[in-house]
Amino acid sequence: MHGMSDTDRSLEVSGLTKVYAQGGPNPGGVRDATFSLPPGAFFTLLGPSGCGKTTTLRCIAGLETPDSGTIRLGRRTFFDIGKGVDVPLNRRRIGMVFQSYAVWPHMTVFNNVAFPLRVSKTRFGHDEIKRLVMKALASVDLASFADRSATRLSGGQQQRVALARAIVLEPTLLLLDEPLSNLDASLREAMRVELKRLQEQMGVTTIYVTHDQAEALELSDSIAVMNHGKIVQLGSPDDVYFRPQDPFIASFVGSTNLFSAKALEAISAKAVGTVMAGKWTIKCSFASAAAASGNVRISIRPEAISLHPPSLSRDEALNHFTGTVTMTRFSGKSRRCSVEAAGLTIQVEAGADAQWQEGDEVLLAFSPKDTIGFPDAESSGALTSAG
Ligand SMILES: Nc1ncnc2c1ncn2[C@@H]1O[C@H](COP(=O)(O)OP(=O)(O)OP(=O)(O)O)[C@@H](O)[C@H]1O
Ligand SMILES: [Mg+2]
Repeated sequence: MHGMSDTDRSLEVSGLTKVYAQGGPNPGGVRDATFSLPPGAFFTLLGPSGCGKTTTLRCIAGLETPDSGTIRLGRRTFFDIGKGVDVPLNRRRIGMVFQSYAVWPHMTVFNNVAFPLRVSKTRFGHDEIKRLVMKALASVDLASFADRSATRLSGGQQQRVALARAIVLEPTLLLLDEPLSNLDASLREAMRVELKRLQEQMGVTTIYVTHDQAEALELSDSIAVMNHGKIVQLGSPDDVYFRPQDPFIASFVGSTNLFSAKALEAISAKAVGTVMAGKWTIKCSFASAAAASGNVRISIRPEAISLHPPSLSRDEALNHFTGTVTMTRFSGKSRRCSVEAAGLTIQVEAGADAQWQEGDEVLLAFSPKDTIGFPDAESSGALTSAG
């Protein structure tokens, strides 16, 4: 038996920092990562290549020694430099699927999955190993593959072997580093559903790493968006998608139209204000305050804009542009239109059955609530610290 009660499983990461010495002016790593996960949470680190996702996971797993910060799981401290605590990885009971999932080719499926049990500090008897391996294989639907050589498997099956290996010790924490990145699109979607089902069934707190925003939005209870080694926003999928804190997050989590504009008035935090972009006057929702005449950036999602015939009578509550369709692209679930509107090129996601064609004159309409304004860090004087 190695069960723990629920209260023993919440993960607290505080001020986690690991900076690699070499690397010139922008040394890689992670800085001051802080987050707290309730038991059973599905948490995702989302960010571009090199932003520090794997480094963060490796520190939590005990594969990397942080420079500072603390890592606790329930009442157990895994790492606290001030107290001289650094629990070795094989005593943390953490399951991990690595970025290149590394199924050992010279072993059978069974032996791949049995490996963590055989090297564990806890001694497992022959029958116990068999029971735990077969249970893990059954949960990823591979029980009948136990004796198969690991090389004679498809990519998706190897993926599941790696997952079985990560859960065989019944970990208190599961770390998954881009576990689906080697799969083709349709298998990836199927495995995504499987993974979520398995995670919920096990109730294991999970940290998932991806640079795929759709995956992050679909799977997660909460998401930490990372950039340049830092967590730049932490929130629910809805938060990071609909209430991005800066233009980087708006464009990284989904696609968006980003424009430079000027505030036509002093705009207070959490208010709608009027800005000017090119010749267009636009009402935007601001989370933080912007100075009158200050430079701002605005973000409008392609799916938040609707296209109409230019003759449509205008709704004063909405923002409007007029423009010309310059390109349409069909993707199956929608029709992407590029619209040229007095110097701005705007991407619009119209319904799959939309009939717009190149050269059509259109009226664009979008709501101020979907038009997010960001004060420009430099012009508002709110310079973010260089860390
Ligand atoms: N052992 C190391 N020595 C020096 N620099 C490193 C080392 N490992 C990672 N880095 C650097 O630290 C930064 C973060 O790396 P990390 O592997 O955490 O990124 P990542 O977010 O996982 O990226 P990817 O999506 O490409 O896997 C990168 O700039 C990387 O070059
Ligand atoms: Mg990585």
